[in-house]
Amino acid sequence: MKKRIFSGAQPTGELHIGNYLGALKNWVALQDEYESFYCIVNLHAITLPQDPKILRQKTLDLARIYLAAGVDPEKATIFIQSDVPEHAELTWVLSCQSRMGELERMTQFKDKAKVKFKGEQLTFGGEDVTFGAPSVGFGLLAYPVLMAADILLYQTDLVPIGQDQKQHLELTRDLAERFNRDFGDTFKVPEPFIPPVGAKIMSLQDPAKKMSKSDENLNGSIFLLDDADTITKKIKRAVTDSGTDINFDETRPAIKNLLTIYQLLSAKTADECVEHFAGSGYGDFKGQLAETVVEFLRPFQERIKEYDAPSLDAILKKGAEKARSIASETLQDVYEKTGIK
Ligand code: AMP
Ligand code: TRP
Repeated sequence: MKKRIFSGAQPTGELHIGNYLGALKNWVALQDEYESFYCIVNLHAITLPQDPKILRQKTLDLARIYLAAGVDPEKATIFIQSDVPEHAELTWVLSCQSRMGELERMTQFKDKAKVKFKGEQLTFGGEDVTFGAPSVGFGLLAYPVLMAADILLYQTDLVPIGQDQKQHLELTRDLAERFNRDFGDTFKVPEPFIPPVGAKIMSLQDPAKKMSKSDENLNGSIFLLDDADTITKKIKRAVTDSGTDINFDETRPAIKNLLTIYQLLSAKTADECVEHFAGSGYGDFKGQLAETVVEFLRPFQERIKEYDAPSLDAILKKGAEKARSIASETLQDVYEKTGIK
């Protein structure tokens, strides 16, 4: 039997090249070897306020992006999280096994809770935000428990994610081990798959910050739906480091980041990239990088239009049925072990 993969992305904001290189690209690469489940995690999306109409639209748009990236619905299962109610149900059971302290320690919680507080002009001077603080949404704290439920429902072996999700995966493993210890063997303990290159693509405007959907500076990210002109401008404006060589040097993070994007999209080795740009200046390098990104995204953007609404619905319906058949078995087992059923 094939081993199993589970991964997902949130239908919020615009997907960027970091999401593609850190996650989606690997989903596609792994779908032949593994039985794969790729989920559109709309329940995660509402941990921060969303416009309902836009959320509904973005949920379908994200399914199209999965398909355009090369996820093959004949090989992998693509589905919407809320179509499989077992995700929310298992979240409750796992919440009862989770500890406040371990959830409060999650860096994503601390970051997102802080952003919310900024608007309300409360400052924490770098202190940890705690659950007891007023007006931080409970959903933000529960977020990684929902993620653990996603993964554990499918007895997942491998979870392809970017670096920023590593801590959530560790919590998932802790929850699985704790549950197995207390109630008997129930969940497979999953392993992360974090790519050796591309797990943390940085902002084009600040190489100390990861490229992020929620960055206010749009010039920091290349979005998968950006047109050629916008991409070229963003790359031209990207910050660089002192020095002139085009190479992978830890002390020159801006160039290292740009070269990493080039490497992954051109499918060259690191050495080949350095050799290719030996003697080139920043102008030439940025020109070639822009061309590579544009040439990669052009057919991608064409493919997004390929699926009409009925065929997309059919894929998602079939995906949810397949997912549910597995998720319901795990939940039944959990309910029996905990005395709920
Ligand atoms: P999200 O869109 O936040 O749901 O993220 C979807 C996937 O993209 C997750 O596996 C993230 O770890 C990954 N990801 C997000 N930002 C980056 C980045 N800057 N570099 C690499 N991977 C990323
Ligand atoms: N939390 C992930 C992110 O923001 C998305 C996600 C939700 C996920 N459930 C998952 C990723 C399960 C992998 C497996 O990137």
